[in-house]
Amino acid sequence: MEKVVLVTGGLGFIGSHTVIALEEAGYKTLIFDNLSNSDINVLINLEKILKKKLQFSQGDIRDKDQVRKLFSANNITSIIHFAGLKSVGESVTDPLIYYDNNVYGTMNLIVETLNSNIKNFIFSSSATVYGNLTPPPFEENSPLGATNPYGRTKIVVEEILNDVFLANPKLNIAKLRYFNPLGAHPSGLIGENPSGIPNNLMPFINEVAIGKRSYLGIFGADYPTIDGTGIRDYIHVMDLAEGHLETLRYFERSSGSITLNLGTGQGYSVLQLVETYQKISGIQIPYTIVGRRKGDIAESLADPSKAQNLINWKAKRDLTQMCIDSWNWIRTQSTK
Ligand code: NAD
Ligand code: WQD
Repeated sequence: MEKVVLVTGGLGFIGSHTVIALEEAGYKTLIFDNLSNSDINVLINLEKILKKKLQFSQGDIRDKDQVRKLFSANNITSIIHFAGLKSVGESVTDPLIYYDNNVYGTMNLIVETLNSNIKNFIFSSSATVYGNLTPPPFEENSPLGATNPYGRTKIVVEEILNDVFLANPKLNIAKLRYFNPLGAHPSGLIGENPSGIPNNLMPFINEVAIGKRSYLGIFGADYPTIDGTGIRDYIHVMDLAEGHLETLRYFERSSGSITLNLGTGQGYSVLQLVETYQKISGIQIPYTIVGRRKGDIAESLADPSKAQNLINWKAKRDLTQMCIDSWNWIRTQSTK
């Protein structure tokens, strides 16, 4: 049987872009997704981009039987595990569905991983695990302290994986802490498509740009930053996708358990992002300063040097490219 990389959550924002990077590099993927935050058109568009049929199985990581069957029917040698819930606000009002999806669901996958001949387990962690304990830039050994249940599910899973590695040192484990992904595939066929009112900045800007919302509310202009608005380490989703590819390649020449920041090391404020977006799209984004959002920090920034030294990966695309591709994606969507 052909060696397969299982991509859970592979129809979601980051997963779908990673499928492209993997398939284009010659890896055979198997997508597993319950479509709770994606739809089957993503699969159709992935197949258009890649000009081939992809393997897809609809299912839920919390369903033990489905997961067991998936593992026994395929020769899975690596897992890239994106499936999970990611809304910070929703995790505060409904924490148990976050622990159920993100922790219990991941444990199901780990159990089957240990029962099979899987060599590599790559987990989607988040910069949110750093909280606000030390000033940025965050290094991988900076103290962890999430400020919400979503972030805590990521810390819990990281701890579980640390214990699993101690007991099973032959399993290679990567915990990848993503900073703030933006952009889309340059084809404009896939991108970030939140339902309802967007929580994150770029989807909100996109909706203002196409006239779906009348203005952007900026959460605070009184932070100790260059212009008072929050600073984030925005990273192009294709750079993030390539970080997963380089992690798999690393495990072909090396082994162990690794934790890596995937960020650019360069921060931009909300206003800088809005200005760049306006310049590339030619569209004015009306905004108003509203109060700070609870739980936000002034600045989040990666120290990305470990990923560069260890897996030979560095983000290549700049903020302008992120805005060009985000705009291209939403413009394509809105003219359909
Ligand atoms: P997304 O919601 O676009 O993708 C997640 C995918 O997983 C969706 O297609 C959804 O349908 C699927 N899914 C959810 N629960 C599932 C379940 N129980 N069983 C099977 N499939 C399920 O999110 P994303 O932005 O692509 O994020 C991917 C991963 O990266 C998540 O684990 C997220 O926490 C993490 N992450 C995201 C960001 C970000 O800003 N987007 C930052 C850091 C970390
Ligand atoms: C970016 C900046 C806001 C919306 C979140 C999660 C984190 C990770 C990435 C998964 C901040 C400001 C935003 C708006 C605004 N996800 N903003 N108006 O909060 O850095 O991180 O997504 O792991 O866990 O917390 O990203 O895009 O929401 O905000 O002014 O309508 O934009 O205050 O400064 P954040 P974001």
